[in-house]
Amino acid sequence: MAKPLSLEKILFSQGFGTRRYCSDLVYAELVSIKGVLCEDPEERISTEGLVLNVEGKDWEFHEKAYIAFNKPANYECSHKTTHHPSVYSLLPRPFVERGLQCVGRLDYDTTGLLLISDDGQFIHKMTTPKKNIGKVYEITTPEPITQKQIDHLLKGVVLDDDPRPCLATACKQLGENTLAMTIVEGRYHQVKRMMAAVGNHVDTLHRTEIGQYVMPTDLAEGEWRWLYSADLQKLSKSVDAERA
Ligand code: URA
Repeated sequence: MAKPLSLEKILFSQGFGTRRYCSDLVYAELVSIKGVLCEDPEERISTEGLVLNVEGKDWEFHEKAYIAFNKPANYECSHKTTHHPSVYSLLPRPFVERGLQCVGRLDYDTTGLLLISDDGQFIHKMTTPKKNIGKVYEITTPEPITQKQIDHLLKGVVLDDDPRPCLATACKQLGENTLAMTIVEGRYHQVKRMMAAVGNHVDTLHRTEIGQYVMPTDLAEGEWRWLYSADLQKLSKSVDAERA
C-alpha cells in the first residue's frame, strides 16, 4: 500500500509545476478529487487509484509514467528541435515538466508507435539490444521487394559505420512494395540504411509493434494513452519469447 503524500507533493510529482505553484493551484480552488474541492495543499492523500481533477481536467496519478503515442509525420523526437516541431508539443504540459523522454527516437518522417516514459530503467530495458525486444516496422518502397532482398535482410547487412552485421529477425511481405520487418536494435536510421544496403529504398516507415504490444487501432495519430502493467508485460516480451 502506497504511503499517503501531501496533495502539494502529489501535484508536484505529476508535473503540475513547482511546489509553490502546486499549492497555489489548490488555494485557487482548481483541484478536486471525486467532485470534492481540495482546500489544503498539506492534506495527506493516498495515491492508490487516485484521479485528480486539475483545472477541470481529470488526471490519473502514476508514480512513473509509461505512455504509448501514435507519432505523426513531420515531428521530431527531441526537446530541442532543428527543423520540425517537437512531439512533446503534442503532449500535456505535465509530461514535459516531469521530464518524460522518448524511448528511442523515430525519424521526423517516421510514423507510429512511440513509447514515452520517465522511468530510466524501463527506457534502458526497452532500448538495449541485449533484451532482444523486437520492433516491427511497416515499410513501403518505390521498387518491388524481392525475395533476394528479404533473404539478405534476414542474413544481415553491414552498414558503413559498424562492421557488425545488422539483421532483421523477421520479414513478412505484405504486398509487392510493402514489408513488415522486425529488428531488435535501434541504430541510427537503421531501417532506411538496411533497405538501401539491399538495393531498395524506404518511401514510408511506420512502427506498429514493440515486443508483443501492438499499436491500438483506436489510437489516432497524435494521440497518447497510459500503459498499464499488462501492456508493459507485452512490451518486454523478447523475440525468443514470441517464437516460443
Ligand atoms: N529506422 C529508421 O531508419 N528510422 C526510424 O525512424 C526508425 C528505424
